[in-house]
Amino acid sequence: MKVISSIIDIKKISSDLRNSGKSIGFIPTMGALHMGHTSLMEKAKKDNDAVILSIFVNPTQFTAGEDYHNYPKDIEKDKIIASKSEVDYLFLPSADEMYPEGYKTFVNVEDITEPLCGKFRLGHFKGVATVVLKLFNIVKPKRAYFGEKDYQQLLVIRRMARDLNLDIEIINMPTIREKTGLAMSSRNRYLNQNEMVSAAAIYKALKISQEMVKDSERISQKIINEIERVIKSEDGIKIEYISICDPDTLEDMKIINDRALIAIAVRIGNARLIDNCMVEVR
Ligand code: PAJ
Repeated sequence: MKVISSIIDIKKISSDLRNSGKSIGFIPTMGALHMGHTSLMEKAKKDNDAVILSIFVNPTQFTAGEDYHNYPKDIEKDKIIASKSEVDYLFLPSADEMYPEGYKTFVNVEDITEPLCGKFRLGHFKGVATVVLKLFNIVKPKRAYFGEKDYQQLLVIRRMARDLNLDIEIINMPTIREKTGLAMSSRNRYLNQNEMVSAAAIYKALKISQEMVKDSERISQKIINEIERVIKSEDGIKIEYISICDPDTLEDMKIINDRALIAIAVRIGNARLIDNCMVEVR
């Protein structure tokens, strides 16, 4: 695995790969890698001739008061993980090169960035869309890989790729979980033992809500009440939102009469955690 930190160098590598007819699979990340990330790397390896992974803690997607400066960093361990997953090139740009003085251009995907996390993290998705488009323009991959855990992010990237005519295939991969069901996340590193145990209630609540839909419950509010009850039965969890919504528009669904996304965001200790699942009525 080669480690590259300058934009011009990775552009040259990627252009040489494309010119020799090789397909590039790309996984953008913010590091503190875990098995959710490696599942994307493994899929990219299967689908493509070469794999490029980026690690960049993107300042523009953190809102005021968030954990930008404390975001977990473990670059030496990340290198080992990436290399074991057979990543060919690890791209580690600097914030100065990504956002030089006088940087003024941002990508704004409308509407779908407003509900759910968009309501609590103003400007977050503008930062995400901007950095992902920049990385796409630098790496010019054939395929890019994203996790369903960050469902709204995935939707925003897909919409951006479609609206801006990007020739990049966006591929989504299922959420990888701990044995307890807790969705893996770099931010789980903020949790202590007790908080890890409490956090498992998020998945438990999602499973219960899936069962309720299977048992013919169609009224979203009843399911939301049950999710709330399950989560609140654990110590130290503060609910940010629980939403049952249309998986394409993210608009609230009062009655589940089709496919629906159930999305949850909570705060536990110093961590903000999100998770979701899909339900379907036939
Ligand atoms: P990060 O949180 O590092 O996640 C990088 C990718 O890994 C995202 O596509 C995310 O959805 C996926 N991922 C995270 N946890 C996962 C899990 N448990 N199972 C499956 N996939 C998982 O998301 C970002 O970084 C940033 O916003 C980024 C897209 C890199 C832009 O800065």
